Amino acid sequence: MPRKVGGVDVLERDLQLDTLVEAVDGLVRGHGRVALIGAEAGAGKSTLLRAFAERLPGNVQFRLGRCDDLSTPASFAPLWDMAPTLPGAVTDALGAGGRSALFAALRDELASSPSVLAVDDLQWADEATIDLVRHLGRRIDELPVVMCMHSGVTRSTAVTRFDGCSASWARARSGSTSLH
Ligand SMILES: Nc1ncnc2c1ncn2[C@@H]1O[C@H](COP(=O)(O)OP(=O)(O)OP(=O)(O)O)[C@@H](O)[C@H]1O
Ligand SMILES: [Mg+2]
Repeated sequence: MPRKVGGVDVLERDLQLDTLVEAVDGLVRGHGRVALIGAEAGAGKSTLLRAFAERLPGNVQFRLGRCDDLSTPASFAPLWDMAPTLPGAVTDALGAGGRSALFAALRDELASSPSVLAVDDLQWADEATIDLVRHLGRRIDELPVVMCMHSGVTRSTAVTRFDGCSASWARARSGSTSLH
């Protein structure tokens, strides 16, 4: 029986959803994961993300940020999207513009409870976001967070920028999912 997201029946995504939910199961043991999903425009990346959010247990916080195809994207654009779900320590550091304080505040928040940090359209990420993803990716084994990233056809360019960042990233790369 297909599940509905936004009034649409989501077809043929059970495998991908099960993989993502399995990554969340690992959070109770304190181990984070990186999940990479690549597909062409319109293949259903954002829909998969919404379906995933609906499958999460109530104790797992879902945070979503988007990247846009802008000539001059704002620094940490996805984090600004997530701001309403982030504590003052993080949003204050975000507004102040100091990178070290921001990374530390965000790490503290992520360490405090299980969560999913989702970034849609990673191929358009600003450079600051790429640095943040690399920073968290190197520490993913110590944080109870699933970093779930979706990207379009330029996925290989976007994703290879993170290579070497952590073993978890390498595992996610080898197991990354494409939608058909
Ligand atoms: N598994 C699915 N079953 C049925 N319809 C789907 C499924 N996935 C997506 N759709 C429909 O396809 C359309 C495009 O989906 P979606 O916006 O999720 O794609 P996308 O890959 O995120 O696109 P973009 O590259 O433009 O961001 C939407 O109308 C959505 O309802
Ligand atoms: Mg989309």
